[in-house]
Amino acid sequence: MSDAKKLYIKTYGCQMNVYDSERMAEAMGGAGYVQTDTPDDADMILLNTCHIREKAAEKVYSELGRFRGLKAEKPDLKIGVAGCVAQAEGEEIMRRQPLVDLVVGPQSYHRLPAMEAKARQGEKPLDIDFPDEDKFETLKNRPKARRAPAAFLTVQEGCDKFCAFCVVPYTRGAEVSRPADRVLSEARDLVERGVREITLLGQNVNAYHGAGDVGNWSLARLIWALNDIDGLERIRFTTSHPNDMSDDLIAAHGDCAKLMPYLHLPVQSGSDRILKRMNRSHTAESYLKLIERIRAARPDILISGDFIVGFPEETEEDFQATMDLIRAVNYGQAFSFKYSTRPGTPAAERAQVDDAKASDRLRRLQALITEQQRAVQDSMVGRDVSVLFEKPGRFEGQMVGKSEYLHAVHVANAGVQVGDIARVRIVESGTNSLAGEML
Ligand code: SAH
Ligand code: SF4
Ligand code: F3S
Repeated sequence: MSDAKKLYIKTYGCQMNVYDSERMAEAMGGAGYVQTDTPDDADMILLNTCHIREKAAEKVYSELGRFRGLKAEKPDLKIGVAGCVAQAEGEEIMRRQPLVDLVVGPQSYHRLPAMEAKARQGEKPLDIDFPDEDKFETLKNRPKARRAPAAFLTVQEGCDKFCAFCVVPYTRGAEVSRPADRVLSEARDLVERGVREITLLGQNVNAYHGAGDVGNWSLARLIWALNDIDGLERIRFTTSHPNDMSDDLIAAHGDCAKLMPYLHLPVQSGSDRILKRMNRSHTAESYLKLIERIRAARPDILISGDFIVGFPEETEEDFQATMDLIRAVNYGQAFSFKYSTRPGTPAAERAQVDDAKASDRLRRLQALITEQQRAVQDSMVGRDVSVLFEKPGRFEGQMVGKSEYLHAVHVANAGVQVGDIARVRIVESGTNSLAGEML
């Protein structure tokens, strides 16, 4: 019976974009839209884009081109570009691709309903401001739906670190923390809607310091406050910068039972020469010492990282230093990338590494990481873990969830519901997941 308009959102990039896409859907919900999971029947298409590497940004133009036929069939269809490519190249997108009706940067999502209304009147609104008001604060009266058991919650945005390769300080703007009372009330609201695990998000989430709150906040204090919410069983956070790993946060990994034993702590390189040129302001040794302190607090913690190979002027010797660091840490998970030149960043001006060399380094690094990741996963066999079940599996009676170490675990004839947390014995390690039995 509904005459609701349909909104299709496609999300690229990091978890913060996932969170923002949910917020945009809620904002448009207030303007009479319901979400659809196919572009074919949509009245509005939004691409929530990522600018971090060249390939990610290029995808936007090829994806937009694919909507030409749809738009020809349905002239009322509105197409919007949001996210970090919108911020970085908004005007160019409008020029290059006439299919686009609106462009909205990451800090202006609360203005989306008004922009959509303008687009319906034939205008082509573009908003890539960094407004003073908080985009999250304007969405209080959103429709309340039951939520999946694991949810993201952005607590901090933007970055002041200016790593020489990175666009984030330009696309997301300066580092801003959300007020703790707002974060806590959003967390309580999520828990009321069935959420049992919250991952706190920020480009530098461990630099969280609250805003306009009484007293001094830190990420650790926020975690302890979340720890008091009944019904919230698991807390995670990502992404962290090594320089913001404070003593109270390290201690929380040992003392706070709801804080899961998993830490994503990107290092990028193991060569001090390259780290300096990257403007990372930590060394390989300071990073290794930090890992040691974190493991002293929580010996079973699973460490994850990010690496860039082929950064300008990287030599084979620099690369070997990265390989040495990886061997010293023993990662349970890692994301690795070939350096991608980003316009406007300091490193873009420097002597680039030969592409074939960079590809070869990436291949060798990924082989080492895969080996470590595999060994860490295999070492779970025979151990008892706790699993938050998130969805039914492929087979009748099978359920799939995540262990505290973020490993995917599937259990046959589990006899549990989505949202249940149960103890499971790991019996087998597969390519991308573990098999377990209920205890
Ligand atoms: N704020 C996080 C990471 C944000 S971007 C942090 O500082 O750790 C996610 C990852 O993308 C980075 O950790 C880095 O490894 C990678 N990345 C960023 N810019 C890149 C570039 N120009 N080329 C290749 N990889 C890049
Ligand atoms: Fe980018 Fe560095 Fe900021 Fe991370 S810390 S978002 S890599 S500039
Ligand atoms: Fe990409 Fe923007 Fe996230 S550039 S990684 S979507 S902050």
